[in-house]
Amino acid sequence: MDMKVKSDHAEYLLDLDQGLVGRELFVSEEIYRREQEQVFARAWLLVGHESLVPAKGDYFVSRMGEESVLLTRDNRDKIHVFLNSCPHRGMKVCRYDEGNTRVLECPYHGWGFTLDGKLAAVPHQEAYFDRLNRDRWGLYEVAQMKNYKGSIWATWDPEAPSFEDYLGEEGLVHLDTVLDARDGSEGGSEVLPGIQKCIIPSNWKFGAENFVGDAYHGYSHKSVDMVGIGPSGKGRRDEEELITERNIFRCWNLPMGHGGVASLQKDDYPYSPVYRDTPEVDDWFRKCYEERQKRLGQKARLIGGVGTIFPNMSFHATQPRSLFVWHPHGPNHMEYWRFYLVDKEAPAAVKDVLRHYYMRYSGPAGMTEQDDMENWNYATAASRGVIARRRPYNYQLGLGKGTRVEGMPGKISEHLMTEDNQRNLYRVWDRFMQGSSWSKIMR
Ligand code: FES
Ligand code: FE
Repeated sequence: MDMKVKSDHAEYLLDLDQGLVGRELFVSEEIYRREQEQVFARAWLLVGHESLVPAKGDYFVSRMGEESVLLTRDNRDKIHVFLNSCPHRGMKVCRYDEGNTRVLECPYHGWGFTLDGKLAAVPHQEAYFDRLNRDRWGLYEVAQMKNYKGSIWATWDPEAPSFEDYLGEEGLVHLDTVLDARDGSEGGSEVLPGIQKCIIPSNWKFGAENFVGDAYHGYSHKSVDMVGIGPSGKGRRDEEELITERNIFRCWNLPMGHGGVASLQKDDYPYSPVYRDTPEVDDWFRKCYEERQKRLGQKARLIGGVGTIFPNMSFHATQPRSLFVWHPHGPNHMEYWRFYLVDKEAPAAVKDVLRHYYMRYSGPAGMTEQDDMENWNYATAASRGVIARRRPYNYQLGLGKGTRVEGMPGKISEHLMTEDNQRNLYRVWDRFMQGSSWSKIMR
């Protein structure tokens, strides 16, 4: 019954019709190297957010796959994404996390680059005796870049479909649940200062597949669910998402591997207060809620939960509203990044209450996601064993089940608990790994 998939460079067990996934996917160096080439050098990846580079000359250092990249805003207000590696001998042209500068000067031999990537200064240029063509030796820029409602995405593949086609209309609707303002108007978010970053001993796919729609793992969060870290400082952490007796709460997935968990209100309901101890904040959320109902009509019924955009970007659409990236660092480690979003126009008191809630929820002193990571870390370590690797993982939950629900885009799970989203993610991952053309990947 085991089915080995053989690509040019790697062999792995993947039998999604039977719900079987080999453990080598999470530990093999060979598979990891092929992922860098076939997945991360081709797919659309989240690089950052426009609010991280608000002024001319601003830069922010990010990653695409395992490579360092620079997000810059040039002196004509244009945003760029470059490989953070000097074309002369490879040194990082920028060693800081973020800042503002007129020129990016390489620390090794001093080549200088403008924020639009041009080679502007070369020490001892006379020693090249007119052989150096500066136009050819600027920074290496991504093939395509997209500013989608403030979030910045890029791909190295000039053949990749447009960002809109990669997400599809239905994927954009789900992504909008995190990126649009709370009153339903388009975009308008900003990142709160301080990106959470940590390196953990887990394969990156455990993060992606958890957020793609693992409603099954609520069991892991039982202890934090009993502690009052909710938005108002009391109650459950997920109080806002849990108003479910009046909602249809299901997993959704899309042909490009994206997926998540979302709610659909069965009817038109009045606002339920969550920020009870801070009336000013609650008033603001109430106004936003009412405005959103008016603005979106029936579409306001869709309330976002969590999701993953293939391959390694995830999001929390409600609270704590945030964007994640699972950066690969070899098969056995990943770097977890989390950007917390607020409405740019929200009053300072709202931003402050949210900032505190976000810190209680997650991060170095937070209460949630450490429990997820502990699972992924142990699972990665346990996938390495010689004996352990003889047994595949079970991905059979909800096998063969799926439906459509009016008002919730995508293929919808018949039961909240399903692994259809994970099977779908690995189906698309396998197409990339086989080196398939875009028309085959997007089918
Ligand atoms: Fe950058 Fe030499 S490596 S100037
Ligand atoms: Fe979790």
